[in-house]
Amino acid sequence: QELQLNLEQIEKGGYEHFMLKEIHEQPAVIKDTFRGRLLSDKGLIKMAGIEDNLQKFTNAKRIIVVACGTSWHAGLVGEYMIEEFARIPVEVEYASEFRYRNPIINEDDVVIAISQSGETADTLAAIKLAKEKGAFVFGVCNVVGSSISRETHAGAYTHAGPEIGVASTKAFTTQITVLALIALRLAEAKGTMSKSEYLRNLLELELIPEKVEEALKEDANIIKIAEIYKDSTNCLYLGRGFNYPVALEGALKLKEISYIHAEGYPAAEMKHGPIALIDEQMPVIVIAPNQNHYDKVVSNIQEIKARSGKIIAVVSKGDTQVKALADHIIEMPESTEALTSIIATIPLQLLSYHIAVMRECNVDQPRNLAKSVTVE
Ligand code: G6P
Repeated sequence: QELQLNLEQIEKGGYEHFMLKEIHEQPAVIKDTFRGRLLSDKGLIKMAGIEDNLQKFTNAKRIIVVACGTSWHAGLVGEYMIEEFARIPVEVEYASEFRYRNPIINEDDVVIAISQSGETADTLAAIKLAKEKGAFVFGVCNVVGSSISRETHAGAYTHAGPEIGVASTKAFTTQITVLALIALRLAEAKGTMSKSEYLRNLLELELIPEKVEEALKEDANIIKIAEIYKDSTNCLYLGRGFNYPVALEGALKLKEISYIHAEGYPAAEMKHGPIALIDEQMPVIVIAPNQNHYDKVVSNIQEIKARSGKIIAVVSKGDTQVKALADHIIEMPESTEALTSIIATIPLQLLSYHIAVMRECNVDQPRNLAKSVTVE
């Protein structure tokens, strides 16, 4: 038994939990995921699974993403990236819904299945259905040789390494990394992005690992915030554009491991419902980088403050406007709007982690949840 315990400690690499270790592995595994694929000095993206099937992608009338849980959130970020960069219409579906609703699938559709484990029963069933209907099915999996990676026609692995914590962290950010590579490659092939914008994105993607490293340095600040809100019963997460799925993922992380009820919303939808919940008890985590939607998010924050809500804002380094309004700020380095989604994820992972630890929850194995759901 003692040996077992020691082994586990070694596996955790000095961290108290696998989840924390996996959060801190992100700079390295994001780099592993683009290594050999992102050749920024040559202005190239090379992924065998895409190159070999490039025409299927460029001729696709639409792309359908099927996934569950956190992978579904990565799919939403992928939708925004592929539509914005490559101008191909994308739909993102919960695999469990897709498989049972007689979906319209054509032979010129491309289906992308995203799955960390590669074993999720609903996702597996969804791709079998898509194949039967003649679609080309591409997998984005983490586990090499998994069922989904074998059932798909082609694919690109994330290189996150084994993810042990039930709540997904590094799998999510590496999934976004792969989707960014795909979106940029397709944009180049379709000529839908200017060369300079394309090159800028390649360079920015290459900088993501060090920016994630920098975002991790907010840990001490995040611990203080966690201390204040650890006994909350509800929490709202807001983001716009590429950060809307990040808000969904932030809320999912909190409910999974701390059992606090949390909801993610597109910031502007707040006025159609969640605003009714806001009072002085309600922490609202707002992702507010200094980008496109900045002014809109600032006015959302003002609406929350007017109702005495507590604001925890994730902002770009050096921000002053949101800082003046928010109760707490967490800073992060800037990037392109699309790639900021990776960086903004980090503080939300840390916040959930610390709150869960303070509530003495079983962080790595939350109640009622499984790492991979191989039954319906
Ligand atoms: C379970 C896990 C989640 C995961 C989801 C999809 O619910 O607890 O962390 O996001 O399954 O899993 P997959 O392996 O298909 O990405």
